[in-house]
Amino acid sequence: MGDLPLNDLGRGFAALEAELRSTVDDVLSSGWYVLGPQHDAFEREFAAAVGAGHCVGVGNGTDALELALLGVGCRPGDEVVTVANAGMYTTTAALKAGLVPRFADVDPSTLLLTAATLEPALTPRTRAVVVTHLYGRLADVRALRELCRAAGVALVEDCAQAAGAAGEDGPAGSLADVAAFSFFPTKNLGALGDGGAVVTHDADRAAVLRSLRQYGWSAKYTATLPNGRNSRLDELQAAVLRVKLPHLAGWNARRRGIVARYAEALGDGPRCMVHGRDAGSPAYVGHLAVMSTPDRDADRAVLAAAGIRTDVHYPTPDHRQPVLAGTTGGLRLPVTEQAAGQILTLPCFAEMTDVEIDRVCDVLRGF
Ligand SMILES: Cc1ncc(COP(=O)(O)O)c(C=O)c1O
Repeated sequence: MGDLPLNDLGRGFAALEAELRSTVDDVLSSGWYVLGPQHDAFEREFAAAVGAGHCVGVGNGTDALELALLGVGCRPGDEVVTVANAGMYTTTAALKAGLVPRFADVDPSTLLLTAATLEPALTPRTRAVVVTHLYGRLADVRALRELCRAAGVALVEDCAQAAGAAGEDGPAGSLADVAAFSFFPTKNLGALGDGGAVVTHDADRAAVLRSLRQYGWSAKYTATLPNGRNSRLDELQAAVLRVKLPHLAGWNARRRGIVARYAEALGDGPRCMVHGRDAGSPAYVGHLAVMSTPDRDADRAVLAAAGIRTDVHYPTPDHRQPVLAGTTGGLRLPVTEQAAGQILTLPCFAEMTDVEIDRVCDVLRGF
């Protein structure tokens, strides 16, 4: 019996191989490789799927975050508040845009930003807040929106881990001023390479984003906006994403089912699935199956001995990253810091077999 991986992208490809090969073939022979018909169709289909009026395809999720921040009017020196437990992506995007990242702690039960954890991090210099739907669980955007509106700051959703999640107020991507998606291959909706998108209800903002992703052009060869760059979703990736998009809801349901079974296997005790309580909710899409454990190293060793691979998302909070050394010195984020030592990611992907899920559950039951 081989090791059980955290994810197996080869199985995802195999499941759709004929369709993927055929659409890639069509693109190859079309003679159109960037910003063509596949891209335009994907933008329309994805905007509709996430309940936003406009979608702008870009090169990756980090570019999507950076463009989203510029698109809501952030200028160099402005502060952006975000969480420190979401893998440094928003912080990287903010730094690239010349912004100053500030960090808010998270709720201990969901590890998500809430209005209560955000409020103390807002300052008069805050221009935007980025809320990450971590591990695929929608944050309470309604409460954050009210707080941001009162403070006069923009709210950006980071939906990289939450494609297809939907709450009472609508899908991830439709809940704030603007939203960023990643289509990195491991995402719930993953391309066969890098890809990303920014979505918004606002037509004027979408026009700004379209300009920023392509040299700041207002027309071909006329650079009008500052901070333009080249970040476009190419035809091959757009075509691949169009094949995959209709399957997203089914894959998400399967992921939720996996997390529900892990939660059941762990039972009531000191260990739990971070979003086990939400495993039946459409507001959660099981992007990462993360458990919380008081004894991570030991648990990891037991799982490894059973041939089950694990990982940690993420071991070093942003405010402790070397690149920020000297800038966040005294900052304490007690919940974020404690969680970083207790989280452990288990295998979870739509093509996992029932036998494989049982294999993980057997180990979890023994904890
Ligand atoms: C929460 C989150 N935000 C942003 C990103 C950045 O996406 P990309 O890798 O496409 O730049 C990722 C994934 O990598 C992510 O998990």
